[in-house]
This record gives sequence, structure tokens and C-alpha cells, in this order.
Amino acid sequence: MCKFGAVENNVQITNSIAEGFSQITDMHPVPVDPDRLIAIAQKWGTPTYIYLEKLIRERCRKLINLFPDLPVSWLYAIKANDNPHLMDIIADEGLGFDTVSYEEVLLCRKIGAEPHHIFYTENNMTDAEMKGAVEQQVILNIGSLSRLEAFCDTFPGSSCSIRIKPDIGDGHHAKVDTGNEDSKFGIRLDQLSEAIAYAEKNRVAIKGIHAHIGSGIREPENLLYEINVLLDLARLFNDLEFINFGGGIPIPYRSDEPDFDLNRFAELASGRLKTFIGEEGRPIRFLFEPGRWIVGPAGILLTQINTVKDQGRKTFLGTDTGFNHLLRPALYDAYHGVVNISAPSDAETRVYDVAGNICESGDILATDREMSESKTGDYLAILDAGAYGMTMASLYNRRALPAEILITGKGFHKAIRQRKTPEQTVDEFLQDTGYSQKK
Ligand code: LLP
Repeated sequence: MCKFGAVENNVQITNSIAEGFSQITDMHPVPVDPDRLIAIAQKWGTPTYIYLEKLIRERCRKLINLFPDLPVSWLYAIKANDNPHLMDIIADEGLGFDTVSYEEVLLCRKIGAEPHHIFYTENNMTDAEMKGAVEQQVILNIGSLSRLEAFCDTFPGSSCSIRIKPDIGDGHHAKVDTGNEDSKFGIRLDQLSEAIAYAEKNRVAIKGIHAHIGSGIREPENLLYEINVLLDLARLFNDLEFINFGGGIPIPYRSDEPDFDLNRFAELASGRLKTFIGEEGRPIRFLFEPGRWIVGPAGILLTQINTVKDQGRKTFLGTDTGFNHLLRPALYDAYHGVVNISAPSDAETRVYDVAGNICESGDILATDREMSESKTGDYLAILDAGAYGMTMASLYNRRALPAEILITGKGFHKAIRQRKTPEQTVDEFLQDTGYSQKK
């Protein structure tokens, strides 16, 4: 049990406030009741990630109901946000887990997920990790010919899934396009016959095929193309039980960005999947493994302005967080909406850059934003930060990680990760390095 699980605040947040939060995160208008978010900031301090259970559940249900008459299962890619309390919520909605490291596998097992609900897509897996995954009995998805051969040699007579490089990629940034010809992921199409022959020789059943073209897919057509590629390849695999089409469903980060039309996508994909089932005759399941779409809009990062600085051409709002806590703007030039939740709704606006407190000039969270006139002490909500926020956070500049708060379905809020004090942060570091403190 997580020791923070019981830290429940007895102040109830009414439903309308919870809905207000989903309004901020869903499409960026100013929150209905920012005072409640400020109350959380005052109680728990900043920087703090805040997540909304209700919205996570709604989004899971939307996915589960997307293909009502097809054998489709959903796996949540926990790399997007692996807070175990959020994973519990998502598992409770009926999703399995997609993992990409042995540590993620262990995390899923330790929070009670059944092995057959855990899909492990390896990447440069070691022999020890491979043996660990087999012992854990999770579904192992192998992404290179050499690893498949090592697996067949070590575990003849067993089964696995393989990741294929479909030679079609997409993504919100070149760094997250995983399916293109030059990608490091997956087994080449022209190596598949060799892979199949090696598996057969060792009586290894290839029960699944998988591809993931990238994260934050821009063109639904590319995902549909990848689906076609995998459906066409299915006939090569005698023992096939499932096909995993990966994740990558995007969310809009800008208020003028159109949302990915999930219903339209499902309609187009359903047609192809149904034809496939009709022609196939074998019972084959389909899997998808989104991360961002489920948790991204359900999280914000709350931060406080502690410095307002006019640098001539630019005015910076200096905050108590930075790319150590939300790396996406620095790494991908990613856009996150920022709302001053302390400013009155009729405040004058000005153009600001929102700066982090990390000692690098690239630590800018938002550039040239027209925002309410802001002052020291105001709180900012950085929107759509539920995915790839906390999981990519680091201790750079030796700063502590943010706290995490969950606004529960019933409208309460509870800490699902407590902030370490500066003393704890430094003491743990010294302890980990085996250094004996001098003071
Ligand atoms: N499956 C595999 C094999 C993946 O590599 C990923 C993401 C997913 C599923 C889930 O993708 P999603 O549905 O969340 O797009 N840090 C980047 C995103 C990197 C994603 C890496 N792989 C960001 O902040 O945008």
C-alpha cells in the first residue's frame, strides 16, 4: 500500500468545481472556480500536479465503448503517467497496461495487475530483463531479430509477440516518430520471414504482432495505413492470437487546434477490422495502447510566480517550477496553455514569457503569451500536463519533485505523492551516493 494513499483532505470539492477543472483542461477557458485550485495550492504548496479522476474515467469509458461490436482491448501506456493511484483508476475501468521496461512491468505486478493484462514492449532488453519478464509471465513483445533469436534459444517451446517496423511514422515532433524507415524500433519487414523461420525451428509461437507509429499522431490516415500493414501481415503468422496497433492518439494543446476525431477514426478502422475478421476465420483480438489521450487533459501543473522581470523586449513571469518538472516545452518546443488563476476575470492582458527556475536559458515554459496582468504570488495553471509531465521529471539542479494531488470522483482531494523537503532531497542524494555527511 502506498503510504500517501490515506492522506485525504476532508474539504469536498463540489462537482461543479470538478467540472470547472475539466473545462480548463478540456478546452482552455478560465476555470469556473479557480479559488478551489488556489486553496489546494495553499494547502499543499507548489509546484503541484493536480489530476481529475472523473475526467480520466470518462476518457477510459469513451475508449472502451469505441468499438462496441469488435474484439478490441485497450492497454494504458503507463509511461504517460505511472502514478499508481491513477493506474488503479484506469485498471478499474477495464484497461490493461502497456509497459516498456522491466521496472514498469514490476510496477504493474506490484499494484495487482494480472500478467496477461501486462504487455511488455522491450527495447534493448538485457538477458536478465528477458528472464524476469518470462518469470512474471507477462506478454513479451520483442523488437529486434537478435533479441528474438536469443529468446528462442533460451525459451524454446514458449510464445511471444513481435514488434514490426511498419515504415510509416507520425508524431507531434520528429523525436517521437517511431515507425519511419530509420526508426530504431521494431523488426524490419524484410526480416520477418527469417524471424518466423527461427521461431518455428524453436517451436516458439508468435502469438502477437505489434507496431507503434509515433506519439501525437497528426494524420489519422497514417494510423489507418499502419493498421492495414499489420492486417496484411497477419496471414504470415500461423499462431496469431492478437494484433496490437500501438498508441499515439493525440490531444489538442492549443485552444484553436481541432480535436482528433475518434469516432470517425473508429468508423474507418471498424470497416477494415470487420472485413479482416470476415476473411480470417481465426479468433483474433485487436489491441490499442494509448497513454497521452487518457491522462493528458486530466492534469495540470500548478505553479506560483515569484519573480516578475522586465528584460526590455520581454517580460518574464518567473515560477517555482521548470523543465525539471515539465520537460515537454524544452524538449519538443511543445505548447501548453497557461492560465493565471489568481487574476480577476476582467484583468487587463499583457504578453509574457513564462520562465522556469532552472539555471539554463532554455528553461522557458511558454513564449509570447497574452495573459492576464500577473504579479508575484499569483498562481498559474499549466494545462494538459497529465501525460509525460511527472514521468519525465528529474532532480536537475537538485530540486525536489512536485507533489501530486488527485481530485477524486467524489470531489475530495488527496495527496497521491508528497513533496520532499529540500533537506530530504539532499539527504537522500547523499545517502544514494554512499557519502557520509560532514554536517
Ligand atoms: N506504445 C508505445 C510502444 C510507445 O512507445 C508509446 C509512447 C505509446 C504506446 C503511447 O503513446 P501515446 O498514446 O501516449 O502517444 N514524451 C513524449 C511522448 C513520447 C512517447 C513515447 N512512446 C511527449 O511528451 O510528447
